[in-house]
Amino acid sequence: MGTFIVLEGIDGAGKSTQARLLAEWFEERGYEVVLTKEPTDTAFGKLIRRLVLTGGREGIIDGAKISHEAEALLFAADRAEHVDKLIRPALQAGKVVISDRYFYSSLAYQWARGLDLEWLIDLNRFAVRPDLVVLLDLPVRESMKRLRSRRIKSEFDKIFELQKRVRENYLKLAEMFPEIKIVNALDDVETVHQQVVALVETLLGE
Ligand code: TYD
Repeated sequence: MGTFIVLEGIDGAGKSTQARLLAEWFEERGYEVVLTKEPTDTAFGKLIRRLVLTGGREGIIDGAKISHEAEALLFAADRAEHVDKLIRPALQAGKVVISDRYFYSSLAYQWARGLDLEWLIDLNRFAVRPDLVVLLDLPVRESMKRLRSRRIKSEFDKIFELQKRVRENYLKLAEMFPEIKIVNALDDVETVHQQVVALVETLLGE
């Protein structure tokens, strides 16, 4: 079995940058790495981006708001394909899989939308558990500042209050799931990378 590492955090926490740096770190050490993300680039992921992320504040389908439950199911469907077609085969082939977001995003965001956490956990029970989840944590004010300099794709990412609830949810999840380790994402890119590497080295040393 390979090694499965996930990066989580609110929008603008630096997940994609850190995922890329970590992938390079593994590659320099001769590992075969699969760098991936959710929502994925498959048909389901594209559907999510079209329905959920381009529709304004909340998902819109045919002019009507998508229910939060349907939204959670769409994310879960995308994830089921992700696990079945990419993550599990890569792990079985002994590769390192690094995913920018995974089911913890569903727990943090869809819980923040008001859904029942236990239902969300049950819904995602099919998802293979990662060996390590790095939670890039920073205050929402800071993440919003970073996002302003980036092209913001939709209102979904903008809502300050939602992001605050999401951050709080992630911190609560870190107390429930022992694989989640918190890293202070306020530091500069290289310092954060070193902290991520330290966690990975601990994992590999076990
Ligand atoms: P993001 O990583 O910002 O995608 P992109 O690469 O297109 O910028 O993720 C898109 C949004 O989807 C983000 O605000 C978090 C949200 N999301 C959920 O609400 N639930 C989930 O299960 C996932 C994977 C993402």
